[in-house]
Amino acid sequence: MPDLLTPIKVGRLNLKMRAVLAPLTRLRAEPVTRVPTQLMVDYYTQRAAEGVLLITEATYISPETVSYHTAPGIWTQEQVEGWKKVTEGVHSKGGYIFCQIWHVGRCAHETFNEDPVVKGSGYTTCRSSSDVPAIGESHSTYPDNEVMPHTKPVPFTLEEIARVRRDFVKAAENAIAAGFDGVELHGAHGYLMCQFLNSSANLRTDQYSGSTENRIRLLDEILSDLCAAIGNDRVALRLSPHTNVLPTYGGMTTDDLEGTYGGAYAAADKHKIAYLLVTEQRWSPFDDDAKNAQALRLPCAMSQRWNKYFTSGPIIGASGFTPVSADAAVREGVYDAVCFGRYYISNPDLPRRLEQGLPLNRYSRETFYTQGAEGYTDYPTWDEVCEQLGVEAADYASPGAGASETERAAFEDKLDELVVLSEGKLKYPLVTAKALGVLTSGTGASA
Ligand code: PHB
Repeated sequence: MPDLLTPIKVGRLNLKMRAVLAPLTRLRAEPVTRVPTQLMVDYYTQRAAEGVLLITEATYISPETVSYHTAPGIWTQEQVEGWKKVTEGVHSKGGYIFCQIWHVGRCAHETFNEDPVVKGSGYTTCRSSSDVPAIGESHSTYPDNEVMPHTKPVPFTLEEIARVRRDFVKAAENAIAAGFDGVELHGAHGYLMCQFLNSSANLRTDQYSGSTENRIRLLDEILSDLCAAIGNDRVALRLSPHTNVLPTYGGMTTDDLEGTYGGAYAAADKHKIAYLLVTEQRWSPFDDDAKNAQALRLPCAMSQRWNKYFTSGPIIGASGFTPVSADAAVREGVYDAVCFGRYYISNPDLPRRLEQGLPLNRYSRETFYTQGAEGYTDYPTWDEVCEQLGVEAADYASPGAGASETERAAFEDKLDELVVLSEGKLKYPLVTAKALGVLTSGTGASA
């Protein structure tokens, strides 16, 4: 029976373990050009480890989707050159990296049409399947991030849909040119693919709407295009199959939830893609830990009811997993692998910590989306933690699989002592995997 540390093949990659870096918006790219920065090179390189898969943050495929000031793109040569340094850094440590390619559709506020990278590009923002705006406030606006409601999108013509398909292909080709091991099509969280998949956002009257099959058509076509362009074993997909039950994706709902997502999984299955990444209903999009706490108390595997529709490759689960719940999900066969977000943010050497059962650095939510190195590249490795605490890393070697109950308990006591020592002494105090258990309160502190 596999566990979190059992090797697995994903597409052409032989992964050493089943813990993966989740795609995470971190907003450290160059403003205006959306070129990856040296800080991003450092961040991804820090998190790379032999035989471990990283997935990049969501990355714009064209100016049409620009919706933050400092999220990266992959449509210009300059952006490709920036990403090359990231992939080189990751590969130099024996790691792997997929690029998550992103079109936000109606979630790109129309004020971004004034952004210099959009203006004069021939593209306009806030485009969608139809003219239904997302409910709520936009995640960013131009020029000053003033809080504004989402704007009404302009529906794509059929010619433009064909062009969007070509933009995705170009982004995938650019990703391969930049040295990525593959691309993950972002089909989740209320963005463009969801705006075609889900009926409340898709009021078209052509072959892309009307029936469940028609709403899945664009996703199927783009997967087909990507597989033809770069090979099916270098293409992946992310889905969030729970539209109706967690209506935080801009107020989106759908008819035929089972068929819509069963069909989307089946499209991925048909194309035999490298992996399918699935968001759990535990996904907690708020910038406030207290609000997230409720979502994080939901069971870990509510999306598994769709697993039967994708059997051609591994399914990776994501959202609110801890080392304990991730290991259980793999052991129970719910997911083949699991993404870590918040604890991979705060633990650049998360693979080692998981392998050796070491405590984790707690994360600071305040710096998830700020700029600069703080909360991005300043989280210490385990060796640095030991140095800062004035202890020897060698004294905290895991007792190993064959250890007795007494030895294991003694090891856990030692780790608990370190956690206490770290309080007040470390910028990012420690928490043990055991203390995190299967649920998290959001900070890890009181779980
Ligand atoms: C975000 O930036 O808020 C974001 C981006 C991509 C996601 C989810 C959230 O998949």
